[in-house]
Parts: sequence; C-alpha cells; structure tokens
Amino acid sequence: MRVAILISGGGSNMVRLVQAMQAEGFATPVLVLSNDPAAAGLAKAQAMGVPVAAVDHRPFGKDRTAFEAALLPPLLAAAPDVICLAGFMRVLTPEFVRSFEGRMLNIHPSLLPLYPGLHTHQRALDAGDAVAGCTVHEVTGALDAGPILGQAQVPVLPGDTADSLAARVLVQEHRLYPAVLRRFVAGDRTPLELPPDA
Ligand code: GRF
Repeated sequence: MRVAILISGGGSNMVRLVQAMQAEGFATPVLVLSNDPAAAGLAKAQAMGVPVAAVDHRPFGKDRTAFEAALLPPLLAAAPDVICLAGFMRVLTPEFVRSFEGRMLNIHPSLLPLYPGLHTHQRALDAGDAVAGCTVHEVTGALDAGPILGQAQVPVLPGDTADSLAARVLVQEHRLYPAVLRRFVAGDRTPLELPPDA
C-alpha cells in the first residue's frame, strides 16, 4: 500500500509514520506534501529518503478550490492508496475529501467528538476534564467528524497548561497513528483504544 502524508509544520507524526512503515514494511511512504515550502518536516522526510513536494497555499488566498487543484498533480503523481493528514493545518473542501473518501486519515489532538477544531487542550483544561487525548479518524466532509479509528488517553494533571498537556498528548499521537495505519492498510477499521503506555 502506498501512503502519502500531508504536513504543515514539524511533521513529528509524519516521522513516526515513516519510521514505522520503513521498519515494518506494512506500507510504503511515497510522498510527504506540505502547504508550506518552509515546513521543517520536509527536510526530515528527505533525510528519510521519502519524496517531498510543497504547494504554498498563500498565493491562493481564500480560494481553497484553486489551492486544492494545485495539490492534486503532485499527490496523484505519487498514486497513493492512503493519505494521512499529520499536523496538516488547512481545512479541505468536501469536494476534495470526497475524491479520497474512505482512504484519508487525520490525527486530531482531542478525544473526539469532544473539541473538534482548534485550541483543543485549552478547551479541555477550561472544562476541567480529568482526561484528554488524541483521535485518528477517517476524513469526511465534516471537519474532525469522520469515523473514529483509534484513540489514546492521557491524564490531565494539576498545574497543566495547554503546552504541558499538548506535549503529553503528542507522545500518544506518536504511538497511536502508526498503530492505526498498520491496521487500516490491512483492512481493519475497528476502533483501537490504545492502552496507556508502561
Ligand atoms: C499535533 O498536535 C497534531 O495533533 C496536530 O498538529 C500538531 C503537530 O503535529 N494536528 P506534527 O508534529 O506536525 O506532526
């Protein structure tokens, strides 16, 4: 199975996905594509031997459709079977998503359906939640609302800030996403509840 990964920044989730695929061979990373040519993840992908491309979204302004039309050539040239959004910070139009429906995944830093959208950790803290976490879900036209494929929980600790909670959740994101992708490419879409790590 050929996997393309879309990033916007550091790409720490992308790195873990590529490492897992290269170590275990359950799929092949065929492209890392960013909406930011300066995304630090692009150099990390290149260092791992994965082809990269970037399409700067800024020249397209608010014309999401035009930006997505520019994403398609490098994406389709890689002929991915699965697309993983990993720290990809652009909202995709339902039309674009529909052309990949059923084979596009995203990782979101909350226990969906709680806190779709942004600032998830601060919202969990403001709500006084005792647990937080991350979710890998199928991408559908509705933002952060597709079928859940896996979740991992972390405790919210006294004195947590959005940053300390984000750091704790990110560790679990790096465990969860490869575990879900491994099952997904094997055709297993049953939701995975990742046990707390030792
Ligand atoms: C992570 O918190 C991820 O959940 C969110 O973007 C953040 C950075 O991801 N989608 P990465 O380090 O670029 O993979």
